[in-house]
Amino acid sequence: MDPVVALILGVSCLLLLSFWRHRSRRGKLPPGPTPLPIIGNILQIDVKDISKSLTNLSKVYGPVFTLYLGMKPIVVLHGYEAVKEALVDHGEEFAGRNSIPIFKRSKKNFGIIFSNGKTWKEIRRFSLMTLRNFGMGKRSIEDRVQEEARCLKVKEHEESLDKEIQCVIGRHRSPCMQDRSRMPYTDAVLYEVQRYIDLIPVNLPHAVTCDVKFRNYLIPKVTIWTSLTSVLHDNKEFPHPEIFDPGHFLDERGNLRKSDYFMPFSSGKRMCVGESLARMELFLFLTTILQHFHLKSQVDLKELDTDTPIANGFASLPPLYKLCFIPV
Ligand code: HEM
Ligand SMILES: *[C@@H]1O[C@H](CO)[C@@H](O)[C@H](O)[C@H]1NC(C)=O
Repeated sequence: MDPVVALILGVSCLLLLSFWRHRSRRGKLPPGPTPLPIIGNILQIDVKDISKSLTNLSKVYGPVFTLYLGMKPIVVLHGYEAVKEALVDHGEEFAGRNSIPIFKRSKKNFGIIFSNGKTWKEIRRFSLMTLRNFGMGKRSIEDRVQEEARCLKVKEHEESLDKEIQCVIGRHRSPCMQDRSRMPYTDAVLYEVQRYIDLIPVNLPHAVTCDVKFRNYLIPKVTIWTSLTSVLHDNKEFPHPEIFDPGHFLDERGNLRKSDYFMPFSSGKRMCVGESLARMELFLFLTTILQHFHLKSQVDLKELDTDTPIANGFASLPPLYKLCFIPV
């Protein structure tokens, strides 16, 4: 046979085969935009804003849909109900992690973030225990963070910027974690910062550990994306989600209002191990800074665009701007 004809025949067979495999697998997977051979749905995704692309697609295909990146199917979960149902109610099945190609090159594909099964469980237990023991020791994490925060202190000052800080902490001692429960406004501001900036919009990718029945679908071992944006910016839970408003976490009497939709650290079995450390740092740094400084923007606040992130891939980074720390 003419080698050219053979080649064309071979390529056509491969294409047909890939189509057929797509179709037979799509039978069990949730619906989604029709993938092109080889590239899948890549053209339907704006790589500069993946999270927004997913939100747009969910308007057409609903809260559970399938997307092909290349030949690989990814099941996308959008909105609080679907995300919570998977990560919490089906926690065990949705706790897997596929390796990410760039990290695959290093042969030791372990570590807590990318491992699975028994290895992951062991490392995770160890990490949590280490962080906890560290916290219970004589010099707790709190002391260390306090000490770090204290380095920000320049001199003792007359006035404090924030009423709550002035009233609960005063200016003669460092903030500590016990203060937080008596500072609902400060707490609400921190919750709102994390909600508003939506640091990790589509979470880290998960994978299902076995074939799992989810709603009306049978999901095989594929990658799972969960949109944390869709939870943090839910407009029923947080009226006007695109506006920064600590009131999202306060009730009418000014008490802290906790929300199940607060998921910047994800939820379920893979939830961020560093959550309490991160939240402790945020609280101690913010209160210590405000205890000692007035913050002043160099440009008019109205001119600042706080809505448009400077990067929006795996992490969504807020725009940079200059701030003056004026000792109070
Ligand atoms: C504001 C700061 C932070 C945010 C918003 C954040 C958010 C997240 C998110 C969304 C995940 C993925 C969870 C999932 O797959 O469902 C994660 C995983 C993880 N985070 Fe964080 N994180 C923060 C700080 C930290 C810190 C300070 C540490 C270390 C002490 C840490 C350690 C980890 C680890 C080890 C995992 C992997 C857990 C696993 O796969 O089992 N994170 N984080
Ligand atoms: C999402 O849809 C809106 C309205 O149709 C459109 O203006 C926007 O460009 C889309 N964004 C992405 C990232 O697909």
